Amino acid sequence: MPNADRIRQEQREIWSAAAAAWQQGAETPLPIDPTTERLLAQAPLGPGMRVLDLGSGAGNPALFIAERVGEAGSVLGLDLSPAMVDGTSDRARRRGLTNARFRLIEREVELGVPDAAFDAATARCCLMYAPDPATALTAVRPAVRPAGRIAFSTWARLDRCPSHRLLVEAVGACVALNAEESRGLSLPFTALPTPDIHLAVCREAGLAEIVTHEVEMAIEAESAEAFWQGRVSRSGPLLGALRAHPAEAREAVAEEFISRLRARFGAGPIHFTDLVLVTGASVPG
Ligand SMILES: C[S@@+](CC[C@H](N)C(=O)[O-])C[C@H]1O[C@@H](n2cnc3c(N)ncnc32)[C@H](O)[C@@H]1O
Repeated sequence: MPNADRIRQEQREIWSAAAAAWQQGAETPLPIDPTTERLLAQAPLGPGMRVLDLGSGAGNPALFIAERVGEAGSVLGLDLSPAMVDGTSDRARRRGLTNARFRLIEREVELGVPDAAFDAATARCCLMYAPDPATALTAVRPAVRPAGRIAFSTWARLDRCPSHRLLVEAVGACVALNAEESRGLSLPFTALPTPDIHLAVCREAGLAEIVTHEVEMAIEAESAEAFWQGRVSRSGPLLGALRAHPAEAREAVAEEFISRLRARFGAGPIHFTDLVLVTGASVPG
């Protein structure tokens, strides 16, 4: 299998493993949810618009977009993971959203949509998992009409995301990851982690009017255990890094992570501030 397809297959597997937890918790707000409004403001979206959402996962922001654009508009969510697509399609049906569709793709460079079919495209926390983010963005561009907008968000560098850094350090203290596993665990914070890199990939994709906002995000949980549970069930990169290791490795990481959280926050609630980058750019008219 070519390298890019191996990366996609790995992503498909790890996010499918996380899909049940994402779908179960999908109606409960996540710490990252406030960034959705910042993302949508970059589009910006209004009634009647047709929107493509890449890496639609458990439906954020696609389901919000469906409500925002109303019945005269539509949203198409595309994702590599069948479990994500199936679960989110069901939830859209249960909510009675007739203007939201979700479809499986094999590759983010083959979207299977007509040129200029959308007024805007979004990708929340997805592009950094593509084999080549600039190529992925380049593939999205023709789907959006001239002068339409593309908005995406990613995590910033690990040193600006202390809650994730603590987890990566706890894993490193307990498990000897191979190079591939280490790369996968830190990928969300290394692929598109600075405004300069966002600018560069947008330019490479032929986009214009590029704006990046740094958005501080409060990450909270009522206890160290609750925080660990949220991470271990939902984090594709964590599931991917640990999946070839015995169950004891995961238990050791849990213990280490919880003890590091307790050392910092005592028995009380957890509070971190991590950084998300939100970028909007235009398709040249
Ligand atoms: C962190 S989840 C984000 C889901 C959703 N956008 C959100 O913010 O809640 C990442 C999603 O991107 C999808 N994904 C990963 N690599 C992808 C790729 N190359 N093309 C399309 N989707 C991809 C995963 O299957 C997963 O559903």
